[in-house]
Amino acid sequence: MPDQADLVIRNGTVIDGTGAPRRAADIAVNGARIAALGAPGTLSGRTEIDAAGRMVAPGFIDVHTHDDAALIDTPDMSMKVSQGVTTVITGNCGVSAAPILIDRAPPSVLGLVFKRPQALSDRLAEYVEKVRAAAPAVNAAFLIGHSTLRMDTMGEDLNRPASAAEIRRMRERLGTALEDGAIGMSSGLFYPPAMAAKGEEVAEIAEPLGPAGAVYTAHIRDEGDHIVEALEEAFRIGRHAGAPVVISHHKCSGRANFGRTRETLPLFERAMREQRISLDVYPYTAGSTILRKEMVTRAERVLITWSTPHPEFTARYLDEVAREFQCSPEDAVERLLPAGAIYFMMDEEDVRRVLQFPAAMIGSDGIPGDQHPHPRLWGTFPRVLGHYARDLGLFSLEEAVHRMSGLSARNFGLAGRGEIREGAYADIVIFDHATIADLATFEHPIRQAAGIESVLVNGEIVWQAGHATGRRPGRALLRQELQQEAARN
Ligand code: ZN
Ligand code: CU
Repeated sequence: MPDQADLVIRNGTVIDGTGAPRRAADIAVNGARIAALGAPGTLSGRTEIDAAGRMVAPGFIDVHTHDDAALIDTPDMSMKVSQGVTTVITGNCGVSAAPILIDRAPPSVLGLVFKRPQALSDRLAEYVEKVRAAAPAVNAAFLIGHSTLRMDTMGEDLNRPASAAEIRRMRERLGTALEDGAIGMSSGLFYPPAMAAKGEEVAEIAEPLGPAGAVYTAHIRDEGDHIVEALEEAFRIGRHAGAPVVISHHKCSGRANFGRTRETLPLFERAMREQRISLDVYPYTAGSTILRKEMVTRAERVLITWSTPHPEFTARYLDEVAREFQCSPEDAVERLLPAGAIYFMMDEEDVRRVLQFPAAMIGSDGIPGDQHPHPRLWGTFPRVLGHYARDLGLFSLEEAVHRMSGLSARNFGLAGRGEIREGAYADIVIFDHATIADLATFEHPIRQAAGIESVLVNGEIVWQAGHATGRRPGRALLRQELQQEAARN
């Protein structure tokens, strides 16, 4: 290492992302990478950040996002960078920006992610070019959505299983996207019209994943009464494809299913002995997605996040809306559609049990386009570090950081990311352990977290003292390059 590094973070307490205990160290950065770690006060650089009394951790990896359009529309990505997130994984829950020929696409299901269709692309390579042109502040890796493949291939008539010819075409389209750099495929069999797909359909489309070293992520068919069967279906698809499985936002929803993580987590443990399985979780007892009648009946309360015909009811509870309409909640849903909602439908004890499960990664599942979004969009990572690790003591800070960095990088093959070590990319967050906290609430969801002081992406400072610096050095993390990086280490 040269005597003077580009940048040195001095006197901080390093939590390296592996789960190892914290230690005092200086970190030297040259270009995009960490050049050296040294004893406190021993390294010097042209720029120095004094991190005395602060934690220095790998930038967080948000493994569950719907940021496909946001990377292009809002490239400063403040909702993520302000939490210390330096890498996002897009295309979850079956919905991705590519590959889809826009003129043939019915936009309804894509509404979750794409209020405007600009990000939609016929090929992943084309979408990646749009991302590069927008130059986001964070790195991004891309999943291909099964629902997107279906809309691309099956035309308007989607409420049915795919034919053999359609399955073949979707498999080829996935294969091309993997060549373009996708790191895996997602499905969302919970959502219409993807719910018309049989497990075999998804399994056959997913066949290229195993040979490519890519992953399969699943928003499973049922997170309520039939969760066990739905988990088994996802495990089976992964086995058929020879691919690691990631179960998205694991939860047991509806009062009748409260406490059932006591049953599902041992199921994970058993299956993990036979195949590679992991999961992600967000730290809240409410979920959020499109407004749907079936979900309203299962939720304790429902908060409207957007509505096309009735934007005036955004941020209002459904029971109030029904009272104003003087109709049943079900009929109120009918009048609000298309719309989005937050559903209070989980047990706090279940959320904590999943958070404490050693294989659980942290993912926000934030929905950036929503007018009144779920607070997880701006609060997830600081909430785990502040509320759950520091205040409630669910796990150590080292463990919390590991589940949002090192573990996530390993499960998704993001080589060179998620750890603080010599040679790794300099994706780094500096935070104050005493004050870190999520400030976004269900009433006021668009609020920056407290305690995140500086955030570096690829060696450049993108966030400092509560503001974006204007630097946007994020990179597209493509499968082939990641695999080359992994082979070098
Ligand atoms: Zn989902
Ligand atoms: Cu999602």
